Amino acid sequence: MSDRPYIVGNWKMHGTRAMLSEARAIDRAAQRYMKAEVAVAPPYTLIHAVHREAEQIGVGAQDCHPGADGPHTGDISAAMLADAGAKFVILGHSERRGDHRETNKLINEKIESALEAGLRIILCCGESLETRDAGEAEAFVLKQLKASLPKIDDAAERLTVAYEPIWAIGTGRTATTKDIAAMHKAIRGLLDETYGEEASAQVRILYGGSVNPENAREILSTEEVGGALVGGASLSAESFLGIVVAAS
Ligand code: G3H
Repeated sequence: MSDRPYIVGNWKMHGTRAMLSEARAIDRAAQRYMKAEVAVAPPYTLIHAVHREAEQIGVGAQDCHPGADGPHTGDISAAMLADAGAKFVILGHSERRGDHRETNKLINEKIESALEAGLRIILCCGESLETRDAGEAEAFVLKQLKASLPKIDDAAERLTVAYEPIWAIGTGRTATTKDIAAMHKAIRGLLDETYGEEASAQVRILYGGSVNPENAREILSTEEVGGALVGGASLSAESFLGIVVAAS
């Protein structure tokens, strides 16, 4: 794994082929800001097209089915994603946990299937506002992660963790750098226990939740923050590249 900051744009359910010009602009500019590792996760329909545009940036997906193939109308397997050019998949995002009632068990099955298909994983975790206000954020996030961290020997190469407080996603509200540092430190402790300190040190912990070009530099220079998972601000090359520049 690289120790470069990892800046990942999660396009969520946004983007038609018109977005390919943004992907091209991101890719060309990323070639000038090599200090950061840059990637985007477009919707399924654009993965192959973005992959064809991408010379520098990584391309990934936002979900996969836990099975390899079969009669599952509308679903996409990890092997299909790899075939389309995806190198990683985001799993456990709070929007999937909420919109599709994804459980830790299902997320584990998806992780296994994605690893089997040769994909890297960005595993998301994060607490609700009620949980934070109750003073239980850290315990909640660690419990969520304990239930899903894959038992693998190559976590250093295959795993990234993204801490995304749910209340900060798409709200314009970010966690304080003090809270981010405390949570990332707790997550690092769990990664140390799970994979050993040497491998754990190679697993980047991203922060996600209303990251934009204005706040990126401060967030990215916070202790234990290895990059950002960016939603809204990844939808235009201009704002996404503002974050990439802040990481460079
Ligand atoms: O996956 C990305 C996160 O959910 C953050 O989204 O940057 O729009 O708050 P946001």
